[in-house]
Amino acid sequence: MASHLIRIPRLYRRIAPFYAPLRPFWTGTACRAAERYFESVALPGALTPQSEVLDLGCGPGVNLKRLRSLNLPFAHYIGADLSSAMLAKRNGHSLAASSFILSDVHRLPFQANSFDVILSTWMFSHLIHPSLVVREARRLLRPGGWLIITCFIRPGWLSDMLFRPVERWFLMHDISLNEIQDWPGLVDVKTFAWGCNAVVRLRNNEVLA
Ligand SMILES: C[S@@+](CC[C@H](N)C(=O)[O-])C[C@H]1O[C@@H](n2cnc3c(N)ncnc32)[C@H](O)[C@@H]1O
Repeated sequence: MASHLIRIPRLYRRIAPFYAPLRPFWTGTACRAAERYFESVALPGALTPQSEVLDLGCGPGVNLKRLRSLNLPFAHYIGADLSSAMLAKRNGHSLAASSFILSDVHRLPFQANSFDVILSTWMFSHLIHPSLVVREARRLLRPGGWLIITCFIRPGWLSDMLFRPVERWFLMHDISLNEIQDWPGLVDVKTFAWGCNAVVRLRNNEVLA
């Protein structure tokens, strides 16, 4: 896992200059339905004007821009990413009520019960053990808080065969629906694009009445 933490920033140092301009090409095609569900159902269902929001693997801050352009309510946004090159591209997105930190999402420098909504878009597929990050996110969530994830999944052998070479190059790992079903606090999983994308909603309901 430690070598992964060196290889990810190295990969994104190369990708960062092109990432934001190229993002609409894949989020507007292969990932369009998942992105739409995330924006129109998952985010509005979780956010309130009091929400303290944490964005795991925030990259250049596209989710902060999205919250603002969709006029969604929140109190404060923090983006966390392991790549300083990606964070450096957040020009113009880091206005008031927001901050960004350079951090590995496995070990975030926040106290328990700090956030109402934790987001993560298209980052989970980089994780070797995603359930460890789900556990860390649940530590940080307040009772009733939401964890909302968009990620790539593998529905079967054909997608396995097609995506494996690309995944290897992008340091990505298989996440299966079976694995997601075991994540604690799972509310629902919606799949899109022939089962290749998922929007996962989890909730910290441990202390809810
Ligand atoms: C595909 S980009 C997604 C960026 C943004 N969330 C979006 O939707 O465009 C994946 C991001 O996850 C970050 N990342 C990967 N592993 C990470 C880790 N262990 N800790 C923090 N960030 C990580 C990468 O540096 C990269 O910026």
